[in-house]
Amino acid sequence: MESRIRLHWFLPTGGDSRDILPDPGRPGVRNPSRRYLAQVAMAADDLGFEAVLTPCGTGCEDAWITTASLIAVTERLKFLVAFRPGLLSPTLAAQMASTYQRMSGGRMLVNVVTGAEPRELHRFGDYADKPTRYERTGEFLAVMRGAWSGEPFDFEGTHYRVEGAMTREVPDPRPEIYFGGASDPAKDVAASQADVYLVWGEPPEAARSQADDVRERAAARGRELRYGIRFHVISRNTAAEAWAAADALMAGISAEAIAEAQADFRSTMSEGQRRMAELHGGDAGRLVIHPNVWAGIGLVRGGAGTALVGSHEEVADRILEYHRAGFEEFILSGYPHLEEAHFFGEGVMPILREKGLIPELPRASGPVFSFR
Ligand SMILES: Cc1cc2nc3c(=O)[nH]c(=O)nc-3n(C[C@H](O)[C@H](O)[C@H](O)COP(=O)(O)O)c2cc1C
Repeated sequence: MESRIRLHWFLPTGGDSRDILPDPGRPGVRNPSRRYLAQVAMAADDLGFEAVLTPCGTGCEDAWITTASLIAVTERLKFLVAFRPGLLSPTLAAQMASTYQRMSGGRMLVNVVTGAEPRELHRFGDYADKPTRYERTGEFLAVMRGAWSGEPFDFEGTHYRVEGAMTREVPDPRPEIYFGGASDPAKDVAASQADVYLVWGEPPEAARSQADDVRERAAARGRELRYGIRFHVISRNTAAEAWAAADALMAGISAEAIAEAQADFRSTMSEGQRRMAELHGGDAGRLVIHPNVWAGIGLVRGGAGTALVGSHEEVADRILEYHRAGFEEFILSGYPHLEEAHFFGEGVMPILREKGLIPELPRASGPVFSFR
């Protein structure tokens, strides 16, 4: 029997659309309003996703405040809240997360984002170089965990010094720590401190070797992690319909827009982003990088750039393939997030449920009546 899979969706706090590069004002372009994000969160909750990842960065609404506003409109959905540790005191972050657990009934997870692009980091006043940032993240996580330990926690490191750090109550449960970052120092911090190591979607062998690298580093420290992978998804009744939807996403993308994005990616300071851009090298003819794995989104957008594309059965098969490559957690999304959550939730999730890989829905669907 295969081990369980955890499926998560994504909260588009930077806005949502039917196109990869939307023109503001066009039909289908959606602001990240509380009402729209509530619709996505409620859909994810009802469809049986375990959590929603909420990104962080200048272009997004703040993840703590946005997700806290959605606690009351959801029942069991967890919030995977991304934040940059360098911008907060670790004891304050421990307190915020501890409060979040009590206000939400234990529905918070954290995604620790060390950050890579100087322009973005400088906006927030962070001028530390990359080795320093990761060293600081490692100390931050040690203090945050210490503050959750139930005992006053003392720490003296290069970046933080605290005495008696603690929170009002020990959070229940202590939020699990998710962590992305593909560079060498990122992997060492993940191996020492994270609960779940995240990668952006690459072909299975490449993704597996990333996870195995962290697994070895963690084993050397006597630790075991879980591994998660981030994909967009376009799943339909037939493969032809799914690929037509992928093509429609690309329609209207100009060669200039692709060239502009490639120039941006060439100057990236993020190893993860460099790996994403290398998958296609800017070539619109090289986008299918593995069966049902399509790199089209990454031609013009940074971050997660690959999608699982195919019939519901094909997408379920690919998820199984990645599961066998060592990934237990899948963070998925699609444009637009509300509709794609339903395509995936009603098309692929029943297949995975049937195989016993994800839990049954708390409420099975009842009869639908008609006036006859
Ligand atoms: C699944 C996943 C989600 C991420 N989310 C964010 C995010 O919301 N904001 C951000 O600035 N970086 C995000 N990142 C980027 C990393 O957290 C990290 O800052 C960056 O990759 C560091 O560069 P490195 O790969 O060179 O270590 C994410 C990475 C992964 C794998």
